[in-house]
Amino acid sequence: MIQIDTLNDILEARYSCRAFKPDPVPRATVERIVATAQHVPSWCNAQPWQVIVTEGTETQAFRAGLQKAVETTTPRWDIEGPTGYSGVYADRRRTCGWQLYDAVGVQKGDRAGSGAQMMRNFALFDAPHVAIITSPKELGPYGVMDTGGFVTAFTLAAKATGVDTIAQAAVASYAAFVRTHFSIPEDRLILCAISFGYGDPDHPANNFRTDRAAVAETLDWRA
Ligand SMILES: Cc1cc2nc3c(=O)[nH]c(=O)nc-3n(C[C@H](O)[C@H](O)[C@H](O)COP(=O)(O)O)c2cc1C
Repeated sequence: MIQIDTLNDILEARYSCRAFKPDPVPRATVERIVATAQHVPSWCNAQPWQVIVTEGTETQAFRAGLQKAVETTTPRWDIEGPTGYSGVYADRRRTCGWQLYDAVGVQKGDRAGSGAQMMRNFALFDAPHVAIITSPKELGPYGVMDTGGFVTAFTLAAKATGVDTIAQAAVASYAAFVRTHFSIPEDRLILCAISFGYGDPDHPANNFRTDRAAVAETLDWRA
């Protein structure tokens, strides 16, 4: 019988990995992760997600090109970003930011330090692979929503095979570069990247865990 504890174990074990070892993930493992993640539901079973995965020199070329794009171009997402973070969302955003900065030793007011940590996004945190996640423009926000489910499932399926991941909206903020680099057609939205590989457990950036709201804060039970 399927046990919720098994799912819970995978969900609790997953975390956003911000330092990777160089060892590649076998292609068969990546194919298994994608096959498992594809079991998520989608409206009309459209399965709108597409994923480009790099390895080896393809990852290096993308990383180098992305870093150049960051230096020379202005960021612009394909989809609308948040218009703000207020109240509890601002609190949670600040908390997880400070957890990361504390872990890597960036002090309050150290703009250079926090900027350097942010720039690690564009080095893909030294991951050996990156997945670029797209959805068809035609399917609109529900296509984006379905693809978000695929992103989550990808991170969980990866964890279940011992592979660590981090979803990155930061990479998608250079959508024009990503589109040109991978020849992504205009009718697809570039939503995010997932850098992945085997996490370095000794790196300070991987040595904190974010918390979650109490169920009572999330669940509005009507009876
Ligand atoms: C769609 C999405 C985009 C994200 N983009 C970034 C990013 O660009 N850079 C980053 O460091 N973390 C990014 N994250 C990771 C979140 O910060 C992280 O999921 C959150 O703080 C909860 O921590 P956890 O994943 O370790 O549980 C992203 C997560 C998601 C789901």
